[in-house]
Amino acid sequence: MDKKEKYEELLPQLEALIKSGQPMLSILANTCAALHEKMQWLWTGFYLVSGDQLILGPFQGPPACFSIKYGRGVCGTAWKTGVSQVVPDVHQFPGHIACSSLSKSEIVCPFIEDTLGKTVGVLDIDSDKLNTFDEVDRVYLEKVCRMLGEVWNDGQLI
Ligand code: SME
Repeated sequence: MDKKEKYEELLPQLEALIKSGQPMLSILANTCAALHEKMQWLWTGFYLVSGDQLILGPFQGPPACFSIKYGRGVCGTAWKTGVSQVVPDVHQFPGHIACSSLSKSEIVCPFIEDTLGKTVGVLDIDSDKLNTFDEVDRVYLEKVCRMLGEVWNDGQLI
């Protein structure tokens, strides 16, 4: 099964999870678990906006940095710009924050609260191989983030 087929199979499951009406914390936890299990990345998780920093949310994979300042690293850049960051080689990204020495490439997509239009968190995915992520990933992961933005409930997690 190629990557696109995996995403196509996953998307209805993710949509059901995200629109389940369950607490946001549980939705985020199950969303990264479903993505991670299917795609077998190194790390899949969320950082959530809190004041002037991102704080670590639900994730799958090795322990990671607790917080990231606005504009710092790949995650902080996605937050600041509101634009997904596809990084083929993390060592070429100025200011990349290495939570794991195994991480070689990364994609970060912001998710944007629907009514206010502001970024409330990011979906961050790391791979232990170079050049893992491309337009296919960006398109599907942005769909996931769009759905999360739609059900984001004023930042209330539980
Ligand atoms: N590499 C990220 C930090 C988070 S970890 O990858 C889980 C960054 O540069 O923002």
